[in-house]
Amino acid sequence: MVTRIHVGGDRPYDVLVGRDLGGELPGLIDGAARVAVLYAAPLRERAERIAGGLGQRVTPIEVPDAERGKTVEVAARCWDELGAAGFTRTDVVVGVGGGAVTDLAGFVAASWLRGVRWVPVSTSLLGMVDASVGGKTGVNIAAGKNLVGAFHPPAGVLCDLDALDTLPADDLTAGLAEVIKCGFIADPRILELVEEQRPENLPELVERAIRVKAEVVSFDLKESGLREILNYGHTLGHAIEKREKYTWKHGHAISVGLIFAAELSRLSGRLDDATARRHRAVLEMTGLPTAYPPEAWNDLLGAMRVDKKARADTLRFVVLDGLAKPGILTGPDEDMLREAYAEVAR
Ligand SMILES: NC(=O)c1ccc[n+]([C@@H]2O[C@H](COP(=O)([O-])OP(=O)(O)OC[C@H]3O[C@@H](n4cnc5c(N)ncnc54)[C@H](O)[C@@H]3O)[C@@H](O)[C@H]2O)c1
Ligand SMILES: [Zn+2]
Repeated sequence: MVTRIHVGGDRPYDVLVGRDLGGELPGLIDGAARVAVLYAAPLRERAERIAGGLGQRVTPIEVPDAERGKTVEVAARCWDELGAAGFTRTDVVVGVGGGAVTDLAGFVAASWLRGVRWVPVSTSLLGMVDASVGGKTGVNIAAGKNLVGAFHPPAGVLCDLDALDTLPADDLTAGLAEVIKCGFIADPRILELVEEQRPENLPELVERAIRVKAEVVSFDLKESGLREILNYGHTLGHAIEKREKYTWKHGHAISVGLIFAAELSRLSGRLDDATARRHRAVLEMTGLPTAYPPEAWNDLLGAMRVDKKARADTLRFVVLDGLAKPGILTGPDEDMLREAYAEVAR
């Protein structure tokens, strides 16, 4: 059974969720004579299987794993390979892997001949529920993560749930932080499903989280307004990632950030105690981190002030006015921020 989740906007596409989705790819790359398949070593076998099922001339491109592959140098090598294979406007780039490989593949596709079709085959939980939905592609540079990129919606997205069987446990847990975020900002049923702690709930969690992101980005392709709610928990989360020099998994930092954002919502009189407490309970039960050192506060505050999401000099936070009722808190005073941080400082 395949679930199709529609993503609207000026270049609509579907996200397909199911098992054994290899047969869906040919339909998405119809009319292409050549296909480049980008992957990193952990997904080599899956990529070879996918490539083997295509009728087109395939250019396999193995790239360094994870963030090491998300660089301008690797992208340049991919462009050279496309050039050598004679890639034209009607050819297609496929990225098989987690968010790092699909971000790279999307960026390579966005810039080749100013944009060719591409398809992410997402293999990590974070990739499925976040990275491959919404059309953001890009690479990292020395000055920071994701600073160079393009909005380039895919032709379609394949989320093969089979892939999650081999995903390292730590990556599965990290991906759950984004799923739980979707539960708090938009779909409380997600929280119940996580709280049940049944592995067989995972497919429904993936689908529900994708629906949340799909709905938001359908209305807001270029991150003008509504899309900001997806940053719930991310202002402090980004600051933690930066302080840890990106050695923490994104989802782990977001987990701490969610508890902070909930406490900030509560302290500003917008969120009830029980819903704020539920953040810690549900995140802890999945094994996500919920604490960060007290002495880090000044670093974190400084980092939040330069976060690209802060506008002008005023700090902005996505907060909750209740379960599934996201809102914006602008310019909270430093005392309140420090008090909210006390909730995670230990
Ligand atoms: N474009 C967006 O909107 C967006 C949104 C969120 C995150 N991202 C990006 O996504 C990246 C993080 O994605 P991620 O968490 O998937 O990390 P990742 O791509 O680095 O994957 C984590 C690790 O898991 C391995 N892996 C992936 N799937 C596997 C599988 N099925 N079996 C075994 N191993 C597997 C990868 O090879 C890697 O070693 C970051 O670069 C982030 O910036 C992008
Ligand atoms: Zn995130």
